Amino acid sequence: MSPDGLDPQVWPASTVVGPDGAVSVAGVDLRAVAAEHGTPVYVLDEDDFRARARTFRAAFTEAFAAIGTEVDVYYAGKAFLCTAVARWAVEEGLRIDTATGGELAVALRAGVPGPDIGLHGNNKSDAEIDRALEAGVGRVVIDSLPEVARVAEAVRRYRARHPEAMLRRAPVMVRVTTGVHAGGHEYISTAHEDQKFGLSVAGGQALAGLRAVLDHPELELLGVHSHIGSQILDPSGFEVAARTILDLRAELAAVTGHLVAEVDLGGGYGVAYLPGEVPLDPSRIAKDVARVVQDACADLHTPVPRISVEPGRAIVGPTTLTLYTVGTVKPVTVDAAGPDGTGSFTRTYVSVDGGMSDNLRPALYGAHYTAAVVSRRGSPGTVRARVVGKHCESGDILVHDVALPADVAAGDLLAVPVTGAYGRSMASNYNHVPRPPVVAVRAGGTRVIVRRETEDDLLALDVG
Ligand code: LLP
Repeated sequence: MSPDGLDPQVWPASTVVGPDGAVSVAGVDLRAVAAEHGTPVYVLDEDDFRARARTFRAAFTEAFAAIGTEVDVYYAGKAFLCTAVARWAVEEGLRIDTATGGELAVALRAGVPGPDIGLHGNNKSDAEIDRALEAGVGRVVIDSLPEVARVAEAVRRYRARHPEAMLRRAPVMVRVTTGVHAGGHEYISTAHEDQKFGLSVAGGQALAGLRAVLDHPELELLGVHSHIGSQILDPSGFEVAARTILDLRAELAAVTGHLVAEVDLGGGYGVAYLPGEVPLDPSRIAKDVARVVQDACADLHTPVPRISVEPGRAIVGPTTLTLYTVGTVKPVTVDAAGPDGTGSFTRTYVSVDGGMSDNLRPALYGAHYTAAVVSRRGSPGTVRARVVGKHCESGDILVHDVALPADVAAGDLLAVPVTGAYGRSMASNYNHVPRPPVVAVRAGGTRVIVRRETEDDLLALDVG
């Protein structure tokens, strides 16, 4: 696509195209970012991150205040976590959701208070659970029946280490599966699930897990958790899941007399990756889900619970672009029928200095991205391009099909937007390629928040 027509849903909020066609973000010319920090580099618009965090929090707070309850928004660190981002999230009133000991360590290093952290994981180690209890996390989300006893056991270990805290209990939620799976292009709704997370509501394990927690005096049951998928653009899945867990909550109360105070609806809020795509609107989804919660609680004669949500992608995804330098440009004649069903066509393979090691999503999920030349105004004519990386396999594709200026050439800077979520966080060192830095831009200035990996970093692990 032409950089003059940058879709604001897809590019960071402060993206501006200058008179010479060069693009800046937050008042910083991307050519200057490349000159100072090299490429590839993730460029993150800090104000955009903060604004998205605030917008999400405000939308949910307002929608649920209207039905008489409160909301906690946990930023899902798996999308992208470093100490700076954890601090921004907390400064904007969010808490931090972690999925491993490593993410927990980052949140703690950032100074996030323990009670503002949640710990997930379908296979937590004893060390991870111990560390979470030591940190005083606000909740451990239990993912299986055996984990109930394991967390209780960890509380006993904690009490042994801290005899003054003999009454200490672990605040826990139980993750359940509602039969709703949503996300991407596949939307499956089935009562029987075939995946590793949570305890099935339909199969009765969810109720058993909740009762098991109540049977352990070391555990404090905060509530029920449900996460239905990721990159969800159709809100109905959230509504079905909310209804299912509110039914479960009422059933637990009927059987045990214990009405859990909180319900977590997870993350999964979809964003636009391509021009013209429509992201899920936080205020609309918040209102829709609040209405379902209110109606369900009225039907069930139960008070409305406290709500929590765990957005990751919707907060950080669109805030970031990856900036590359173009290297080899190679026209390739494709003999197969073109998309319009007619004969051969020329595809211009544009190789950049990164690839599947900094964005695994196209190779892993067939995810689609767009790209633009951002260092100059290109020729008005375009070529049909495929942006590929420097790795030694043909699946190393970053952008499958995009119109780029016909004069795209080595040395041009090329940006791929919406790489903030699951980009750096899933990056690898495939082919011993060091991982790019993350540079935050704000008010005309840059700040490295994750530095570039070096060959020395890689070799430091190689003990010979
Ligand atoms: N909460 C839980 C329990 C989760 O498992 C996830 C994501 C989230 C929250 C955040 O979901 P989000 O709002 O970011 O969609 N690597 C994949 C996405 C995996 C998501 C895993 N769980 C991708 O690149 O699309």
